[in-house]
Order: sequence, then structure tokens, then C-alpha cells
Amino acid sequence: RHLLLGGAAAGLGAAASVGVAAAVTQTGGQSPAAAVDLNGSRTVPFFGVHQAGIETVPQAQVTYLALDLHDSVDAAAVKRMMRILTGDAAQLTQGESALADSEPELALVPARLTVTFGFGPGLVARTAQPAPGWLRPLPAFTVDRLEDAWSGGDLLIQIAADDQLTVAHATRMLLKDTRSFASLRWTQTGFRRAPGSEKPGTTMRNLFGQVDGTVNLMPGSADFEKLVWGSSSPAWLAGGTSLVLRRITMDLDKWDKLDRGGRESAVGRTLAVGAPLTGTKESDEPDFAATTAIGFPVIPEYSHIRRARSEDPGERIFRRGYNYDEPPAGGSVSNSGLLFVSFQADVDAQFVPIQKRLDALDLLNEWITPIGSAVFAIPPGCTSSGYIGDTLI
Ligand code: HEM
Repeated sequence: RHLLLGGAAAGLGAAASVGVAAAVTQTGGQSPAAAVDLNGSRTVPFFGVHQAGIETVPQAQVTYLALDLHDSVDAAAVKRMMRILTGDAAQLTQGESALADSEPELALVPARLTVTFGFGPGLVARTAQPAPGWLRPLPAFTVDRLEDAWSGGDLLIQIAADDQLTVAHATRMLLKDTRSFASLRWTQTGFRRAPGSEKPGTTMRNLFGQVDGTVNLMPGSADFEKLVWGSSSPAWLAGGTSLVLRRITMDLDKWDKLDRGGRESAVGRTLAVGAPLTGTKESDEPDFAATTAIGFPVIPEYSHIRRARSEDPGERIFRRGYNYDEPPAGGSVSNSGLLFVSFQADVDAQFVPIQKRLDALDLLNEWITPIGSAVFAIPPGCTSSGYIGDTLI
């Protein structure tokens, strides 16, 4: 049996949590997890100017929950709910059990757990505050085949950790908190490589085998500060941002029929290392002007990277997606895709123009189809005496 040092039970408050959740046995010795500095004992601070789970190096596992508020829930009730959720998220992320934790032992392995909350249009409408102009469903794109089952929602909870058991436990605890306020609209789960499988800093691969995430805003950079955290209107969003989640199927069975050259030209990068077709290393800058001996662009006009890149440096987003892989149905051998997730200060100014260009031309559209879409405002972080959403309500 383990007792948690720094938890509510020990009455020591948050000060004892310093990056590694320290667990002690009843005999006073350190638990094996803390003693050998396992990844499972690592924690990400919950309180801060910004919510965690955005700049955080992506964890291996994620669950996204979207909830619909009950009709009777007003601003005061949203506030009560967010206080409860914040309290439990703050505990669980530090390796401490939730308030009414039915399996407290499962909380002892935080594994870099983060919990990030997002507000949909329906939640903001219950308050007296204005919503940002972009907080609404995205405009319709011709590639869309959207299903209600994966779209919309009043409250988003992103629960991510390096360990699926940790994610499952946190998910259950947080969902219990929402029971009298909201009902579950959808759940989406995703994954990346397990921690330790690759060198830290390796760009993820998606299920097409592509290196995915090379050209991205860098957390901590001035660009990131402006293009992700730069949401200053309305005032309650200062320190926050927006999240777009698109569930995009990737037709692996059809992709199977394409040869390697075709696969590489669809994106404009090599499969081996993710280098642009005009270079040799992943980090090489693509040369969009380069042509072949017979005059065609080396990086084709229809390629994903050419179409996704804007000449306007303000039209950039931070991508932090995950793979999904569900049981196949109806004779297919795959039901896979990408939980495309991007963060940006302004959805209309940054995400929409990129998606519009990809809608008009992108060879990848032959194999990918958006089937879910949701937009959320991500409020700022809070202090230990506040709660997520305290600038709104
Ligand atoms: C780049 C795959 C959807 C925006 C890339 C790259 C790959 C890729 C392999 C090149 C490596 C990199 O820089 O990350 C995919 C797949 C998708 C998908 C498989 C769907 C299943 C989207 C969507 C958007 C988007 C929906 C935005 C609306 C971008 C951007 C880049 C990029 C901005 C960087 C372009 C640059 O070089 O400047 N994507 N992508 N992608 N993608 Fe996607």
C-alpha cells in the first residue's frame, strides 16, 4: 500500500510536488517508481499563466471528451463544475488522488498527465461575456463528410499522459465530476510512439508512415507567443488560445495501392526521413522553385506541403495531433486516421485560410476525409486559488 506525500491525505498541499510525484510506502521507504525516476512518476505543473497540455511535449496517449451542458445549467452551475474539475485535474496531474477517488492507487502514476479544458460556443453563451468571433463551427469545406458523432460540444477535456491506464483513470474521475452538469457527446482517443521507443525530440509518424509535424511553431518562441497565445479579445481569453480538432480518416487500403514515389510526391517529402524532395535532411528548407530536367516542379503544385504553406507568416498554426486506429468494419482491414489538432490565436485568420487552400487542391485529399470537426476556446491557466474559466465566470 502506498500513501502519497504531498497529497490531500498528507495535508501538505501542493508545495511538495516538484516535478516527480514522490510516493512512500507505509514503512517510510520510497516507492520503486520514485526511486528510479521512472517516466511514470514525472509530473507537469497544472497551475500557470497558460493551461498545460499545449506547450507540453506531446504525451503518448490522449483522450478527448466533448460534453453537452444540461439545459438547466447556468453560469453559476458552470462555475461550480469548473471548480470541481479544476480541483481534481490539479490533484491527478500531480500524482495525487481525486477528491472522491474510487481507485486512489491508480493516481500514483501521473506519467506527465495534463488536463486541458476548452469552451465551446454553447458554454460561453451561458455567461454574460462575449465570445470570440471565430468560436463557431468552421465554414463548410467540399472535402468534409462530417458526422455529428464526432463534431461540436460545449466543453472539451483533453486528457493526455504517457500511460493509458493513467489516462483511463483520469478520464473516469473527471467524467464523474461532470455527471450532474453535462452529458458525454463524444470521446476520441489517439496515440503516438510510447516514451522511450525513440530519441526524445523525434517528429512523430502518422499511419501513412509519414514524418508528420516537421514545420511547426516552436513552443517558447516569439512566434508561438504571438500566433498561439496572442488571443487578447475578448479580455477573458488573454493567456488562452483556440483549439481545432478535425477527425480525418486515412484510407490505408487505398494508400496501399500507391507506389513510394506517388506517396512522396503527394506530400512533397521523403518517407525515409521526411526531407523535402529537394533536400536530404528533415530540417532542410524546401526549394519550391526547383524544377526537374524536363521543367516540372520537384515539389509538385498539388503536394500537401506546398498547398499548406502560406506566404503570409501570420497564417501559421501549432499542430499537435495524434493517430487513431479503431476496429475496422465491413470487410476493410483498417479504420484509421489522424486526430488533427491545432492551436492558434485566431481560427479565422490562421486555420481557415490553410484549410481553404487544402480544400481547393491537395493530392492527399485522395486518401483523407474529415469526418469530425470542433472548435473550442482554450481559456488561460489559473492560480492555485482560482479555477479554469475564472476569467470568464
Ligand atoms: C505538413 C500530413 C492534414 C496543415 C504536413 C506534412 C505531412 C502532413 C506528412 C509534412 C511534414 C510536416 O511539416 O509536418 C497530413 C495528414 C493529414 C494532414 C496525413 C490528414 C490526415 C492537415 C490539415 C492541415 C494541415 C487538416 C490544416 C488545415 C499542415 C501544415 C503543414 C503540414 C501547415 C506544414 C507545411 C509547411 O511546410 O509549411 N502534413 N496533414 N495538414 N500540414 Fe498536414
